Amino acid sequence: MLIGIPQEIKNNENRVALTPGGCYELVQHGHQVLVQADAGVGSGFEDEEYVAAGASISPSIEDVYARAEMIIKVKEPIEPEYELIRAGQLLFTYFHFASSRPLTDAMIASGATCIAYETVELPDHSLPLLVPMSEVAGRMSIQEGAKYLEKPVKGRGVLLGGVPGVPPGKVVILGGGVVGMQAAKMAAGLGAQVIIFDVNLNRLRYLNEVMPSNVVTLYSNAYNIKREIANADLIVGAVLIHGAKAPKLIKREMLKDMRAGTVLVDVAVDQGGCIETCKPTTHADPTYIIDDVVHYCVANMPGAVPYTSTIALTNATLPYAVRLANLGWQKACAKDPALAKGLNVVDGEVVYEGVSEAFDLPYRSVETVL
Ligand SMILES: NC(=O)c1ccc[n+]([C@@H]2O[C@H](COP(=O)([O-])OP(=O)(O)OC[C@H]3O[C@@H](n4cnc5c(N)ncnc54)[C@H](O)[C@@H]3O)[C@@H](O)[C@H]2O)c1
Repeated sequence: MLIGIPQEIKNNENRVALTPGGCYELVQHGHQVLVQADAGVGSGFEDEEYVAAGASISPSIEDVYARAEMIIKVKEPIEPEYELIRAGQLLFTYFHFASSRPLTDAMIASGATCIAYETVELPDHSLPLLVPMSEVAGRMSIQEGAKYLEKPVKGRGVLLGGVPGVPPGKVVILGGGVVGMQAAKMAAGLGAQVIIFDVNLNRLRYLNEVMPSNVVTLYSNAYNIKREIANADLIVGAVLIHGAKAPKLIKREMLKDMRAGTVLVDVAVDQGGCIETCKPTTHADPTYIIDDVVHYCVANMPGAVPYTSTIALTNATLPYAVRLANLGWQKACAKDPALAKGLNVVDGEVVYEGVSEAFDLPYRSVETVL
């Protein structure tokens, strides 16, 4: 199969859908890989590395879309790409269809087959192609939080690890899923005192088993949260209720209970945030202050570390990409129900229930297209 890797053209997106290592793997399976010139540069991969791995370099995005049977991307296609997508072409990327009617309409009109990373779902309901980005964001939340705790950027002026003779900072994490666990691990590694909240008792049991002794698990309720945020230095929002907006665990009026210079990092901002005063920010202007509390609410945190994010993402997507290339999408999806859940649009029809419900569009069941 001829596989195309276009350069991402969405604003500030430096990730690329395939590393040279991934390219080598596909070539070893007998496929051809066409990489747009400079597509990997933002993530630290030069064209020469792709050529050495067996790829050809294409001069333009138009050429990649015109020739490739399967396009692998990172972000959803944006408007200039719509007209490049061809009927019968396979697209494997993040789409987040339910949040964009124009994108959904464009992909229906294109006649392409769209497999969305974010809806590939394992039998235990975990989302294997979202996990790597949660891992990156969780680890980053502590790095960013530590930075904004510094006085010149209006933080409390606290070093999270403390020093001999000075106690460490206190980190409160709301939600002990993928983001929360990675945040706890980083904060604990710095030597901070860490509290991690969740409502899932089994998850708290697990965290209690695997976390070091400077991480304490607590059941998440309003009373416990109010008590723990009063003397926290850094608070990380990492709550997710699947298919719903995040609950507001920290209300506007609770900011006055916190100390001046406390830092809030609401990673859950992409689902509306679990802190009432949170609104999405960008890497160009990541923070704002309300009631002397620093808010960091960047909606695409992994975008700031494209080298790590690209490798983490492709580690997860590559096995699926290889199967799609080896078998074609119909056979690959028929053999793997997790991958079949990624099918959102096929041949001008919506085959993912959530998308058809979001826009009241006709729905065709996946089984009928396999
Ligand atoms: N900003 C970014 O760049 C970025 C990047 C990756 C992920 N995210 C977001 O981070 C959020 C967390 O993702 P995740 O992968 O860790 O999800 P997850 O499903 O692994 O974990 C969510 C956890 O929240 C817990 N929870 C639910 N209700 C709660 C409550 N009332 N109090 C405390 N805990 C509660 C759940 O039990 C679960 O353990 C999501 O909204 C995700 O979209 C953001």
